[in-house]
Amino acid sequence: MIVLGIETSCDETAAAVVDDQRRILSNIVLSQTEDHRPYGGVVPEIAARSHVEHIDGLIRNAMELAQLKFSELDGIAATAGPGLIGGVMVGLVTGKAIAAALAKPLLAINHLEGHALTARLTDNLEFPYLLLLISGGHCQLLLIEGLAQYTRLGTTIDDAVGEAFDKAGKMLGLPYPGGPAIQAAAELGNDLAVDLPRPMIGREGCDFSFSGLKSALRRKLESDPNLGVDDVAASFQRAVGDVVVDRTANAIAMARQKRPDVPYLVIAGGVAANNHLRLRLDRLCVDTDLQLVAPPPEFCTDNGAMIAWAGVERLGAGLTDPLDVQVRARWPLDPHARPMPFAGKKA
Ligand code: KG4
Ligand code: ZN
Repeated sequence: MIVLGIETSCDETAAAVVDDQRRILSNIVLSQTEDHRPYGGVVPEIAARSHVEHIDGLIRNAMELAQLKFSELDGIAATAGPGLIGGVMVGLVTGKAIAAALAKPLLAINHLEGHALTARLTDNLEFPYLLLLISGGHCQLLLIEGLAQYTRLGTTIDDAVGEAFDKAGKMLGLPYPGGPAIQAAAELGNDLAVDLPRPMIGREGCDFSFSGLKSALRRKLESDPNLGVDDVAASFQRAVGDVVVDRTANAIAMARQKRPDVPYLVIAGGVAANNHLRLRLDRLCVDTDLQLVAPPPEFCTDNGAMIAWAGVERLGAGLTDPLDVQVRARWPLDPHARPMPFAGKKA
């Protein structure tokens, strides 16, 4: 079974071809970071226009690289949400057009499900596992028990963790995106130099909050303009690490109540590329007798292979979608999870 995957929900235009033997036949990602850098964040209109310009050529290249004819595909998977709606429409309409022209099944994929199932593609993982999904748009802990069996244990009540990194980077005058820039600066700094709060630590459950940390950082920088950027970056990264470890430790206990046998903690999303967080979570897993599974960074950030793979899994289970399926700006993976009214579009 061979599936084409299309991803356009944020600032990466991506296309990939994956088969049910976990072979990634092609995987092309075109990042728009340079287009958005002058604005210090993703501009939805610029993103959508860029997807329109590049998607056709990218899909053609992905098929050529996989050395396949369109007629050899068994299904077409495209992200249908959640995300920046203009971009999502570009990808889904393209997927629909290809599916209609070929008379092949369409798979309308939840972007979060793509992230959630990636470790099954890259690390051949069995269900169940605990998933920490940390990206520019999402910050959630989920128990993954099977295809379409996802329980959200916690989420952010305001900003996503990557968003916090990006805003902190901007305050420090670092280039966009802030996450990698803070990581690099932190390597040269003292992480005990600046006293910052650790929102939610010690609280029941495993929800996150980063807006207090962001405001505290702004106040520190205003009150002492001479603080060293490296020290601030290191202290900020450590504070985020403390929060993530505390919340994940609670999630492990919550997951074990439902599934005492859960063997893995999987990390996904762009922030999962962060060295400091990987180290801290590795230590947590050793302490709690879990195995940390961290897919290679290029599969943690947005890509087409994760969408194609989610398509393979759904097609295998007969979960195809009609050609009039709609895009969804908001689309929780766990339909029973309570909504977070202040978490904006992103959480
Ligand atoms: O998954 P992703 O590529 O896009 C979204 O779906 O959001 O994640 C992008 C986010 C950005 O906020 C970026 O700053 C962050 O991931 N990021 C990092 C690192 N690399 C990327 N954050 C911290 N440390 C990193 N090394
Ligand atoms: Zn993502």
